[in-house]
Amino acid sequence: MSKPLEGKVSVVTGAASGIGLATAKRLVKDGSIVFIADLHEDALAKAVSEIGSNAIPIVADVSKVSDIKKLFETVKDSPKGGRVDVLFANAGIAAAAPIGSISEELYDRIFSVNAKGVLFTVQEALPLLGKGSSVILTSSIDNFKGLPGYSLYGATKAAVRSFARTWTADLTKSRGIRVNVVSPGPIVTPMFEAGAGEVKAKIIASQVPIGRNGRPEEIANVVAFLASDASSFIAGAEIQADGGLAQ
Ligand code: NAI
Repeated sequence: MSKPLEGKVSVVTGAASGIGLATAKRLVKDGSIVFIADLHEDALAKAVSEIGSNAIPIVADVSKVSDIKKLFETVKDSPKGGRVDVLFANAGIAAAAPIGSISEELYDRIFSVNAKGVLFTVQEALPLLGKGSSVILTSSIDNFKGLPGYSLYGATKAAVRSFARTWTADLTKSRGIRVNVVSPGPIVTPMFEAGAGEVKAKIIASQVPIGRNGRPEEIANVVAFLASDASSFIAGAEIQADGGLAQ
């Protein structure tokens, strides 16, 4: 039986760690060539050593439009690229900052990566996205659930959710491009571990109906589904993968 993404070309941002890394691995396993984008060359080299030669590293900071342009120029010019069938705009950063203590610098930094980064990643990919291609954006359950201290982060993730609705109106009928969102709950990644710490991570896990925090591979499963033809009638949707936490 052929693999679900045999012959496809994918791009994953924030691919050197956590959810992006697990997803890049999964898309390669499903048959795709995957261009993996992240901030640092050494982390990308490590990712390639884990994923194999069907992962092609590109250093890019998604908060800079010039870097995003270069990323897609590289994909376009690569003999293994030339187009994008699956785009996972996933790079993101998180920081808790209760209202009363939010700095302008933090506001700009979080919005630059999480909202501006996603918007320009999709915009710059557009010339390479054809009929039947699939765009998946990483939001968060914070986009609809108020978590103490996360108003900035939650707002960026609500922007991401909103992008998918509007881009479905903009792109699905006219271009045949599906845009969907995965909204993870607590997933054990370097970002989550740095933000929660060991004790808080256990408290969060105890609140999840499924009884534990999630694994990056469990988000990769959702992305692989949204990337494949198995989700061919799903557009503008959000899949919440949170063990039931935010229901
Ligand atoms: P992570 O920190 O393990 O991985 C994120 C990757 O993105 C890192 O390799 C980092 O270098 C890269 N990155 C950060 N800024 C970048 C930039 N400007 N340009 C390019 N790459 C950049 O984090 P994790 O947990 O895998 O997060 C992935 C996505 O999932 C993020 O958008 C995050 O907001 C979202 N998310 C994570 C949850 C969790 O519990 N881990 C829950 C809900 C959403």
